[in-house]
Amino acid sequence: MIVKSLSDCITLNNGIHIPQLGLGVWRAKDGEETEKAVKWALEAGYRSIDTASYYQNEESVGRAIRQSGINRQDIFITTKAWNNEQGYENVLQAFERSRKRLGVEYIDLYLEHFPVTDKFLDTWKAMEKLYKEGYVRAIGVSNFHAHHLDALLSHCQIKPVVNQIERHPYLTQQNMLSYNSAHDIQTEAWAPIAKGNVLQENIVVKLSKKYQKTPAQVVLRWNLQSGVVIIPKSVHKERIIENSLIFDFELTEQEMEAINNLERNGRIGTDPDDMIYE
Ligand SMILES: NC(=O)c1ccc[n+]([C@@H]2O[C@H](COP(=O)([O-])OP(=O)(O)OC[C@H]3O[C@@H](n4cnc5c(N)ncnc54)[C@H](OP(=O)(O)O)[C@@H]3O)[C@@H](O)[C@H]2O)c1
Repeated sequence: MIVKSLSDCITLNNGIHIPQLGLGVWRAKDGEETEKAVKWALEAGYRSIDTASYYQNEESVGRAIRQSGINRQDIFITTKAWNNEQGYENVLQAFERSRKRLGVEYIDLYLEHFPVTDKFLDTWKAMEKLYKEGYVRAIGVSNFHAHHLDALLSHCQIKPVVNQIERHPYLTQQNMLSYNSAHDIQTEAWAPIAKGNVLQENIVVKLSKKYQKTPAQVVLRWNLQSGVVIIPKSVHKERIIENSLIFDFELTEQEMEAINNLERNGRIGTDPDDMIYE
C-alpha cells in the first residue's frame, strides 16, 4: 500500500503508527536553525521528527514542538542513545536526559544509534524496561546488520519495531530490506537523498522532467514506493516543503527498477562493523 499524504502512517509491529515521512535534524544547529526547521515542517504538515542525543538539538526540537500548539500526541518524536550512552544503567540515564531536554512525558520511538559491541544487548534490556514502564511507545535499532539483529532477536523479549539504516539509490540495501521485512521490522532510511549526491543522475533528472517534480522529490518518491520510512533533512523552508510534496505522482515499476540500478555499494557513513566503539 502506498501512503497518500504527509500524515499517513505505517503500522509498526507493536501496533503503533509512524508517519512514512518525517523531518531529520542531523547537523541542524541547536537554537534558531533547528527551531525554525521544525516549525516550518509542522506548518507544512509533517508530524514526525527524527533527532538524537548526538545531534545536540533535542532542546530546540522540544521547544519548537511546544510552540507549534499542536497536541503532543499528534507528533511522533524519535530520539536515539549514542554509543557512549549504551549499557544497561547508562542508557536508562541517557533516556531521562533526552526526555528532559525534549521536555516531554514520553518519547514515541527510542533507538540504539549503533550496535555497540558488547553493549547492545544490555542496552536493549534497559530499553525493554523503558517500554514496559510506558516511557516510550516503541523501541528500535539503527545501523544494525543482519548479524547484529540475529543476536538481538535471539535474546530479546520485545522485538525492535524499526531498523534505521543508510539507504538511498547508491546503497539500496535490498538484503537488509528483505531481512527486516522477514522479521516484521520496519526499515527507516537515513540519508534518503544521499545528502543530495544522487540528484544529478541522468535517470533522476529525466524522471523529474517527466513528472514535473524536482530530483529530490523523485528520489524521495522512489523511497516511499519501496515501503521505507523516510526522514529527509533540510533547514530550508522551501526544501522542507518541496520534500513533502511527493504524494501526487507515481513511478512505474520500470522507473523504480532504473533507480534501483544506481546501486554501487556507495555507503556515505561508516560501516557499523568498522566503527570504533570506545
Ligand atoms: N541513524 C543514523 O545513524 C543516522 C545517520 C545520519 C542521519 N540520520 C537521520 O536521517 C536524517 C536524514 O539524513 P541526512 O541528513 O544525513 O541526509 P539527507 O536527508 O539525504 O540529505 C540532507 C542534505 O540534503 C540537502 N537537501 C535537503 N533537501 C533537499 C532538496 N530538496 N534539494 C537539494 N538538497 C536538499 C540538505 O541541505 P539543507 O539542510 O541545507 O537544505 C542536506 O545537506 C538526518 O537528518 C537524521 O535525522 C540518522
